[in-house]
Amino acid sequence: MIVFMSLVGNTRKFVNKVNEPAVELSIDNSLDLELNTPFILIVPTYSEETSDIVREFLENETNRDLCKGIVGAGNRNFAQLFCYTAKDLSKEFDLPLLHLFEFQGSSLDVKKIEEELEAIV
Ligand SMILES: Cc1cc2nc3c(=O)[nH]c(=O)nc-3n(C[C@H](O)[C@H](O)[C@H](O)COP(=O)(O)O)c2cc1C
Repeated sequence: MIVFMSLVGNTRKFVNKVNEPAVELSIDNSLDLELNTPFILIVPTYSEETSDIVREFLENETNRDLCKGIVGAGNRNFAQLFCYTAKDLSKEFDLPLLHLFEFQGSSLDVKKIEEELEAIV
C-alpha cells in the first residue's frame, strides 16, 4: 500500500506508475484516515503548513506504526532544501527515509519503490 500527498499532480502521476493500491491524503481526510495495512508514505516538498496534513495523519499511532518508511518528492533546484519535508518527517517520527526523487520520477525511481514495497509484504 502507498499513502501519498499531491498538490499539483506530480506525485499522483508517479504513484499511478507503481503497480500498488494507493490512498491520497488531503485536507479532508488527514484527521480521519486510519490504515490497517503496512504502507510507504510519499510526500512532495512544500512549506511547513502544507506538510501538516501528513503530520496529522502520522500523529495517529496506528498509522505511525504501519508506516514502513518515507519517500520524498521534490526538485533539485532547491539545492540543500531538496526534499526537506520528507527528511524532517523522517526525523520527527523516527521513520526510515527510503528514497528521494524529482517530479514524476523515472523508471528507476518506480523500480526502487516497487522493491521497497516488496520488502514490507
Ligand atoms: C511553492 C513551491 C515550493 C517548493 N519547495 C520545494 C523545496 O523546498 N524543495 C524541493 O525539493 N522541492 C520544492 N518544490 C517542488 C515540489 O515539491 C515538486 O514539484 C513536487 O513534485 C510537487 O509534487 P506534487 O505535484 O505532487 O504536488 C516546491 C514547489 C512549489 C510549487
